Amino acid sequence: NSPFVIILFDLIYRRVGERAVLNSPVLPHQYYVSWFFERGPEIEIADVSYFGRKHVNPDSGEIWTSRLSISTNNLIINNMQEENFGTIVYFKFTFPYLCILVFMLVSMEEQRPFLIPGHRLSLNCNAETKRRHSVYWIKPAGNKASPIQGSVTKKAESQDNGKWKCVVKDNGKESEFEFFVSVVDFSSASKYVYTSTNLPLSIPFWITPKEFVQKILSNVETIEWLFTPKTSSTQQTIFSFSSKNGQLKQEDTASELSYKNFTDGGNFSLHRNLARVEDRGTYNCSITFTNGYVLSRSLVVDVLEITPSPGTELISGHHLNLSCSTGGPLETGVTVKWVPPDTSSLAKADFLSGHLIITRVGTEDSGKWRCDLRRNTTTLTSAVITLKIGEHRKREENMNVSFSFLVFSLPVFLFCNSHQRKMRQLRHRLCKCKK
Ligand SMILES: *[C@@H]1O[C@H](CO)[C@@H](O)[C@H](O)[C@H]1NC(C)=O
Ligand SMILES: *[C@@H]1O[C@H](CO)[C@@H](O)[C@H](O)[C@H]1NC(C)=O
Ligand SMILES: *[C@@H]1O[C@H](CO)[C@@H](O)[C@H](O)[C@H]1NC(C)=O
Ligand SMILES: *[C@@H]1O[C@H](CO)[C@@H](O)[C@H](O)[C@H]1NC(C)=O
Ligand SMILES: *[C@@H]1O[C@H](CO)[C@@H](O)[C@H](O)[C@H]1NC(C)=O
Repeated sequence: NSPFVIILFDLIYRRVGERAVLNSPVLPHQYYVSWFFERGPEIEIADVSYFGRKHVNPDSGEIWTSRLSISTNNLIINNMQEENFGTIVYFKFTFPYLCILVFMLVSMEEQRPFLIPGHRLSLNCNAETKRRHSVYWIKPAGNKASPIQGSVTKKAESQDNGKWKCVVKDNGKESEFEFFVSVVDFSSASKYVYTSTNLPLSIPFWITPKEFVQKILSNVETIEWLFTPKTSSTQQTIFSFSSKNGQLKQEDTASELSYKNFTDGGNFSLHRNLARVEDRGTYNCSITFTNGYVLSRSLVVDVLEITPSPGTELISGHHLNLSCSTGGPLETGVTVKWVPPDTSSLAKADFLSGHLIITRVGTEDSGKWRCDLRRNTTTLTSAVITLKIGEHRKREENMNVSFSFLVFSLPVFLFCNSHQRKMRQLRHRLCKCKK
């Protein structure tokens, strides 16, 4: 009666430093299990039994004893080192069958902490096994990389930034290995910057990764901040920096924008305490690296402004035209919404047009009128004006006062007038004499 033997395979692909969990098949009530490692001489590394024994063999050496944890249902190898890769054999004595687990090393070429755009990006993923398997890479965007097995070599670009995945496929089973690539780039922020004439102007240009910032001066040749106003097509340079002299030069002093020390924190942002209508336009920051590669980022700045016509100080009953605009057509999906003061008779109306015409304003319309620029329900920015509406009656009183003033002062006026006339005649005469 020869014992029948069932051979089970389990394939586990791992990288150095990773952890592997080796699961036992379902166990009977009474069991004795031994785990062996087979690479060169066979060694018993651990065993468990139904008596409650959970034992790591101290003779297996530091490479195993420091990494193994054993339980009834599994054996865990933590922080795997090259010596731990190979075949692990599992024996169950009471009902003898064996289970072989094969481990293979996946290696990847060491990468620098970050890459300058244009430098060589090289990724290698190899499994040390004679088994038939396939290896491919998935790019950060989610599509498959080059058809060359296990290795990718190209010039680094912004799109290479992010999580690459190496996929090892063996016997229908896929194992994925993530790998992060960091290419110097502007941090991804929205292309549009919204502000208003009531708010600061902040044009965010950030460079990543942080580690690059310390090496900025040795890798960068020039940095330029350019501006194209919304109403013009002429590009003007606001600031320029050349690493040759280490001097940051302000080219367009009229823009009065300030900047932080970018060599300190990689913050290339421009700032002003209050945005102006003239700030509308496209801002472009471009970095020329020492390898000739140019990296640039453009941001479109929209400044919301409320224009009251004829003005903000009015008399009740007057006509008012309020216009809220970014100085051009709005992007699709972007809308304007007016928020009148709570006291206004128009407070509950829904104003969704940039132009608001109030044929007769009342004193209750005094206060803060806000205009929100929104995308769906998100407020992108807001502008505010304060209206001062005087009472119409007050104006009548004023007219009465001036009228009575006129009546009472009429004799004085006439007197002065006649006096003045006399003086003028006198002066006339004097002038004549002079001549
Ligand atoms: C970056 O610089 C801008 C302009 O100087 C400033 O407004 C912003 O707060 C800075 N950001 C950080 C995180 O320092
Ligand atoms: C900017 O920061 C760097 C690094 O901290 C420093 O060496 C440099 O002098 C600073 N430049 C200015 C203009 O403050
Ligand atoms: C920034 O300006 C430069 C010079 O005009 C241009 O070559 C580059 O394409 C611009 N960058 C972007 C992102 O528009
Ligand atoms: C209201 O003002 C805007 C801009 O100030 C102007 O385009 C529009 O024609 C004016 N409308 C009326 C009815 O006055
Ligand atoms: C915003 O509105 C647009 C259409 O106007 C729609 O396609 C989009 O899904 C909306 N986004 C959110 C976050 O609701």
